[in-house]
Amino acid sequence: MSAMHIQWKDEYCVGNALIDYDHQTLVNITNELFACVDKGLSTEEISTVIKYLINYVELHFQREESLFQESDYPDGQAHMKKHREIEQVVRGISDQYAADPDAINIDDVMKFLKNWLINHIMRTDRSYVPFLNV
Ligand SMILES: [Fe+2]
Repeated sequence: MSAMHIQWKDEYCVGNALIDYDHQTLVNITNELFACVDKGLSTEEISTVIKYLINYVELHFQREESLFQESDYPDGQAHMKKHREIEQVVRGISDQYAADPDAINIDDVMKFLKNWLINHIMRTDRSYVPFLNV
């Protein structure tokens, strides 16, 4: 198990089954990435997992956005803007890594992803969940 491994905790649950499922999946994919890096897999293999993670992040953001657009959540626009920003950052890292892996410090990327994910689950999403109708 990677030293970076994220252990899922009950306190990560926000109380919405779909969102909680997505978050657990994001944690699982991120842990898979950490394991691949630890095993010293090739750039191509690591790049594939990073892309898979990004695709799931985008899917998750779409789900969140359709949920809070149907709710009375007042900060939807600002929250969506944050989603687009993080997508750009992560896509940038992924493209750079695929083009020239030596230009990227993968340890920094892992730390960034871990911090972002825990912050997203523990902080960002707490803002809209109380407004959801489901
Ligand atoms: Fe989320």
